[in-house]
Amino acid sequence: MAEVIWGLATSHVPSIGAAMDGGRTRDPYWKPLFDGYRPAREWMAGRTPDVALVIYNDHANALDLDVVPTFALGTAETYPVADEGFGRRPVPDLRGAPDLSLHLLESLVDDGFDMTALQGLEVDHGCTVPLSVYCPDPGESWPCAVIPLLVNVIQYPQPTAARCYALGKALGRALRSYPGDTTVAVFGTGGMSHQLAGSRAGFINPEFDRMFLEEIQTDPEHLAGLSRADYVRRAGSEGFELVMWLIMRGALADEIHRVHDVYHVPASNTAAALALFDNLTPATDRPR
Ligand code: DHB
Ligand code: FE
Repeated sequence: MAEVIWGLATSHVPSIGAAMDGGRTRDPYWKPLFDGYRPAREWMAGRTPDVALVIYNDHANALDLDVVPTFALGTAETYPVADEGFGRRPVPDLRGAPDLSLHLLESLVDDGFDMTALQGLEVDHGCTVPLSVYCPDPGESWPCAVIPLLVNVIQYPQPTAARCYALGKALGRALRSYPGDTTVAVFGTGGMSHQLAGSRAGFINPEFDRMFLEEIQTDPEHLAGLSRADYVRRAGSEGFELVMWLIMRGALADEIHRVHDVYHVPASNTAAALALFDNLTPATDRPR
């Protein structure tokens, strides 16, 4: 079986990657967020998975807005890093895990989730920034293979939170039925509250974020029950990205242990957060 060893929820703001690439992580603006990452990075560095399953959204870099799959899964051998208009980030291309990808694809389709297969894909900041949050100095290659799972969170009608949570549960089943012995870390990316355009540009809602950060561990069913409009209203139009954390959560055990979290405002236009969960240790921590 493919065993999920940990889950990481993290914002994927492009300027987090730019701060790392430009050596500005100790600047007063960025230091609190990067200091907050440190304990999580140390814990993860001692638990390198074979494969990182990164749930993210493309931001009209690889996929044209004319063709937006609701859910898509990478099945490629490699995933080049996209040039988003400022030159490509100085990070390695991704090595895929096509055997596991094809197993997940088949299992998910058989389980009622009609995934689009992406046999070629350039990954944008939605995927590369979370990888940098996990592993700040990859050198020539990332420490593990990567499978990207893409979600339409940018164009109406996006999948509901309930559907995303159900997809996570199906992913968990698909991973458990894999014939190989493989360790997997699941990344849920995006969020927290933010809105990049329109009359509410700059919108942040710390009260909603704090509730979500708590309940992603303790009460994901509640978060899965919120409507599309609830997310847009309470987390902002781009804060809708938070439904991708629910896919990660669904793939983890019912009881999980919170290793570390950090919440910081602002990172660019976003309330940024990281939450790291050990999937092998039942919850020992109490609700805060
Ligand atoms: C920002 C946040 C995002 O999630 C994104 O995809 C692009 C930009 C921002 O806050 O600047
Ligand atoms: Fe985004």
